[in-house]
Amino acid sequence: MTTLETSIGKLKIKEGITKSQVKELIHFSNSDSLIQKFTTDQVRFKDVVTYNKRLKNKIRTYYTLSDDGGKLLGITWFGPKNMPDWFDKKPDYEGYIITFAIRLYDGARGIGIGHIFLSETLNLYLNSPQYKDHGGGKLWCLLEKSNKAAVRVYKKSGFRSYNKNEGDKILMLRH
Ligand SMILES: CC(C)(COP(=O)(O)OP(=O)(O)OC[C@H]1O[C@@H](n2cnc3c(N)ncnc32)[C@H](O)[C@@H]1OP(=O)(O)O)[C@@H](O)C(=O)NCCC(=O)NCCS
Repeated sequence: MTTLETSIGKLKIKEGITKSQVKELIHFSNSDSLIQKFTTDQVRFKDVVTYNKRLKNKIRTYYTLSDDGGKLLGITWFGPKNMPDWFDKKPDYEGYIITFAIRLYDGARGIGIGHIFLSETLNLYLNSPQYKDHGGGKLWCLLEKSNKAAVRVYKKSGFRSYNKNEGDKILMLRH
């Protein structure tokens, strides 16, 4: 467990997600307007059945951010996924085979801890047996260009943007 000192108190970062946090995850995915605007979590975490199916079918390592009482304040996940084909055509995209996601909820958003939470959990993941078993790999993430807070958080966590002058999506890469 890692502890973060923040303006809203000491928060805990842990690998994995408890049963009550799964309920909170489902609740936020179905009710938070920013999550709905920028993510497909409403589909991904529609209900417990969908969540369990995903858990079984996708290799993902989850990290949660919570307060003392275990209330879910944020989540990141990492795991193997190839880029969409249309990106793979570029030779310098080779080796980008790990993707990730970050969400902050309620009072934890907008207080400047996004890049700390992402950097801490990324570091945990890069040192995890899951990552090593998978044989390593570089990270990529595709997001809406208009998602300025996420782009900023990723840049502060060591990612660089690739196709910033093309389309409404932006590809962020990390060596
Ligand atoms: C992405 C997310 C985790 C960022 O959380 P956060 O750290 O609380 O973000 P903040 O509001 O503190 O903003 C981070 C930075 O972006 C900047 N920013 C925020 N909104 C901005 C905007 N509209 N225009 C320009 N910059 C903006 C902030 O000023 C801050 O910059 P700083 O670090 O230099 O001070 C959070 O917004 C979230 O959970 N969003 C919904 C889920 C999501 O979109 N995830 C990523 C999808 S791939």
